[in-house]
Amino acid sequence: MNLCQLVERFPSEETLCNQPRPYFNHSVEMKSVFTAAERAEMLESVGLNVFYFPAEMITGCDLLSDSGTTAMTNEQWAALHTGDEAYGSNRGYFMLADQIRETFGEEFFSRPVSGRPNAFIFHQGRPCEDALFTVLSRVGSNLIIPSNGHFDTTQANIEANNIRAVNLFSPELKDGESDFHFKGNIDIAGLKRLLEESGDRVPVVFITITNNTGGGQPVSLANIAEASDIAHSYGIPVFFDACRFAENAWFIKQYEKGCGNKYVWDIVKEMFSHVDGFTISFKKDGLSNMGGGLFLREGGLFVRRYPHIPDALFNYQIMKEGHPTYGGLAGREIMALVVGLRIVTREKYLTHRINQVQMFGQSMVERGIPVLTPAGGHAVYLDVNRFFEGTGLGREDYAGISLTALLLAAYGHRACELGNFALGSYDEKTGKATFPEVNFVRFAIPRLRYERQDLDSVVEAVHGLYENRDGIPAVDVTYGKELRLRHFKARFRFRTGKAGSR
Ligand SMILES: Cc1ncc(COP(=O)(O)O)c(C=O)c1O
Repeated sequence: MNLCQLVERFPSEETLCNQPRPYFNHSVEMKSVFTAAERAEMLESVGLNVFYFPAEMITGCDLLSDSGTTAMTNEQWAALHTGDEAYGSNRGYFMLADQIRETFGEEFFSRPVSGRPNAFIFHQGRPCEDALFTVLSRVGSNLIIPSNGHFDTTQANIEANNIRAVNLFSPELKDGESDFHFKGNIDIAGLKRLLEESGDRVPVVFITITNNTGGGQPVSLANIAEASDIAHSYGIPVFFDACRFAENAWFIKQYEKGCGNKYVWDIVKEMFSHVDGFTISFKKDGLSNMGGGLFLREGGLFVRRYPHIPDALFNYQIMKEGHPTYGGLAGREIMALVVGLRIVTREKYLTHRINQVQMFGQSMVERGIPVLTPAGGHAVYLDVNRFFEGTGLGREDYAGISLTALLLAAYGHRACELGNFALGSYDEKTGKATFPEVNFVRFAIPRLRYERQDLDSVVEAVHGLYENRDGIPAVDVTYGKELRLRHFKARFRFRTGKAGSR
């Protein structure tokens, strides 16, 4: 008997519960040592706003964002050295063009010098949004842009251009009990209603994949196709906010009927075949630390309906970012991005990535911590309302802020409130506060950065806080309650006295 035959007598490697990571550590950074008292003092000095807490003092996991926080591969680091810093049409630009065509479809990056550009490189996602909504705001008045869930900066860029941003979350997202796998879907009934009533005011329909504001949940291929057909029947183009396109495609392969045998990169192409353009921050599924882009389908509904817009974007980009052949990026950043896009659709990578997030979510569930289930692709979302149920803390106590502050001070882990404070508002004139439909603390997992042991430590810390939730006080907002995008700017103070007292 040879060794091959002998190996076949044993359970195959794929059947092992503990799969090795599809990568190994190439270089690592040693953390500094800080005590809970030192962290507490620092956090208090920045008004409990975790955005201002020095990252170097984070002794646990920094789960503030999965954006731009990827640990790049050795190939990406090597690619940085091959960056060409020419002022126009650098080497990387042509490689990026090829890679965009290969990943998303030929029509999204017309051959350079073929006339008007339809591909615009930006330094991150939000300037793409600003560019798009600035030029779109001129096509009509009282405009509305619906989405399955606008990201906060997307919504802010829409509103800054006097357009109304409407979120059409799927009904399943609000049902804590539902185990539906595509809670990121756009609410089809809501979309139909909106287009019937006000279709003439809708310049574009947005679909965010995966739906970050809606719990990082994926959107099904069927939902993309149906939403696109409906919008197109009104002559309205459809765009993706495509930051996490590969993770979304992995979910489709895993859970959507008829997709199990497809390759992820084919699913990506199929997803993008339904849209007329997309904005993307490459800081997520580009596996790079910087980069963004705005891409229009050549001959698609968007450029046919708004034939002047490619030129307007061309001008905008030259004025604000740079020539379209480098946009807002250094040549070396483009090289790292090209390599990142090649890696991100690999199934072994995606399986590991999403399983890590799922296991993290599952460990929270096993400890009784209320999180949105099934977990999404890049983050686990803790349901703040359920976490504090029965403690007497109300909406204006902003308990999600209390939780993130304590987690960071006591245990050295950083997470982000995305709920009553971040997504709510306060009108100084009327004294009226608004609150969002969802009230989360988000634990976003950077790509390729942490190991299971790190995340287990977060679960243990959150569990400790959950067990002692009656002792967690409310916070008062000492600065910035009325400001736009206030969670990035505000300051807080723990309220003294009985927990939940007003
Ligand atoms: C869904 C979504 N859209 C847009 C953005 C904005 O991208 P950037 O941070 O690169 O500006 C983000 C960033 O987190 C996002 O998650």
